[in-house]
Amino acid sequence: MKINLKIPSLCLLLLAAFAMLGCNGGKNQPNIELIQDMMDQRALKSQKWDSLRNKPEEMVPPAHTVPRGFTPYPYHNQPLVAEAKLVNPYAGDKFQSTLKRGKDRFDIYCAPCHGFDGKGDGTVAQYMPLKPPNLMQDMVRKFKDGRIYHIITDGQGLMQPYDTQIYKASDRWAIVNYVRYLQKRTPDDGK
Ligand code: HEC
Repeated sequence: MKINLKIPSLCLLLLAAFAMLGCNGGKNQPNIELIQDMMDQRALKSQKWDSLRNKPEEMVPPAHTVPRGFTPYPYHNQPLVAEAKLVNPYAGDKFQSTLKRGKDRFDIYCAPCHGFDGKGDGTVAQYMPLKPPNLMQDMVRKFKDGRIYHIITDGQGLMQPYDTQIYKASDRWAIVNYVRYLQKRTPDDGK
């Protein structure tokens, strides 16, 4: 009987002690860490010296260098050169799979502004003081494929470049083909 009384009270005492350790009395101080797990980590501030690796934590790449395997876009700010030099490897909507991929990417990355039909009436367009242009207009129809590829890659005026989001060249060409497809099925609106 005696033992039976002692065990529950000991348990309660222990519980209270743990609770107090955990709550830390409401003070804004670190808890007492009973189980440390991942509490202590080797965190370093950017640009500070990493004494373990004996070099700065975050290195700025040396000037005029690029990461291995990265090819810089050669026609930055040169839409006319890009238009003259870039050749669409999937010209002529030859592959249905390309068109499907193009629609998929266009609907994600272009339709919010240019609209699902490319008419410049996307959901976001109504909130923009300067509206995104209609991609069905004559001027864009007359662009060579390379020009549209260039605009996706390098941006144009208000439109930001999409090279980091649409990082595969094949996806950009697929979008170009899809824009062509939209233009073919949309009657010329004469703008
Ligand atoms: C955030 C809105 C926005 C998105 C998303 C966007 N654009 Fe644009 N786009 C614009 C605006 C605004 C312009 C006009 C830019 C300028 O000339 O100042 C433009 C211009 C263009 C032009 C040139 C048309 C012309 O009349 O000069 C083409 C082609 C084009 N966009 C294609 C695309 C494609 C393809 C995508 C998807 C990869 C895309 N845009 C995504 C806003 C957008």
